[in-house]
Amino acid sequence: AKKVIFDTDPGVDDAMALMLLACSPEVELLGVCTTFGNGAIDTTTRNALYLAERLGLRAGVHRGAAAALDGAQHAPPVQVHGHNALGDIALPNHIGRAVSGRSAHGFLIDTLRRHPGEVSLLAVGPLTNLALALRQAPDIAALAREVVVMGGAFGHRGHGGNVTPFAEANIHADPVAADEVFGARWPVTIVGLDVTHQTIMTTDYLRALAAEAGELGALIWEMSRVYQAFHRDTGVEDGFYVHDASAVACLLAPALFGLVRGPVRVDTRGETVGRTWLDEAAAARPAQSVCREVDADAVLALYRERLRAD
Ligand code: BDR
Ligand code: CA
Repeated sequence: AKKVIFDTDPGVDDAMALMLLACSPEVELLGVCTTFGNGAIDTTTRNALYLAERLGLRAGVHRGAAAALDGAQHAPPVQVHGHNALGDIALPNHIGRAVSGRSAHGFLIDTLRRHPGEVSLLAVGPLTNLALALRQAPDIAALAREVVVMGGAFGHRGHGGNVTPFAEANIHADPVAADEVFGARWPVTIVGLDVTHQTIMTTDYLRALAAEAGELGALIWEMSRVYQAFHRDTGVEDGFYVHDASAVACLLAPALFGLVRGPVRVDTRGETVGRTWLDEAAAARPAQSVCREVDADAVLALYRERLRAD
């Protein structure tokens, strides 16, 4: 089995990504780490606990960062994920799961040290927890098997940002953390808007999921109404982009993605803050992998196959 830690800010598409992990028998989910992002840390952690219970996960939930490394607090994008960050579905007052006693970055450090060379980190929110872990324990960079990140926009075929013309949301929320994570000597694969904007779940696709994927399919339909309405307002005629689940697909089936390699930099201030770019001149930084192409139909088929309730 592939040992995975999921670092997340649920989030409608985070929830959909977690479902794909939970339905993938080759994955051993070691833990879920939460971060601020699509909601405040209390909101995203509550959502992670709800999902852990609902999906029957054995993995623990570890509460993470409340703000970016530089202390900046961004208002949660309620227009994208709703006020409760799960598309305003009704949530129970009581959730039968509680967070672990370990912080997210503490858990990352402990777990990487316990299983050297074996653990894949899958990060689909701001990268604050990963950067905190690196700052406290630089040795962990040599211990991770790989780091797969949903974030960034490299301008391939005109794919710009989604928060500003330059910046994607996860990177924009903590650009300093992203720069440190991409500059560390561990193998990072970046799944940014260049590929996630090529993959769209349409209304027909979502209806098919709702019919085939039992309780989860119905939950996805319900959860994604606000998310789909936001996409419609921003010019996606039918359906929504597949962000976080594309990173899971990249972890499960890397052959579905086309990569370029090079040192990756992040603008940490100024007008272009949060912009990600390949800087061939930054020879002191490690080369990382950036996804530029994707077999979108295959990603959609993979998602549907894994979630199908037999
Ligand atoms: C990313 O930002 C969040 O809104 C999504 O969950 C995804 O991780 C897309 O830019
Ligand atoms: Ca996310």
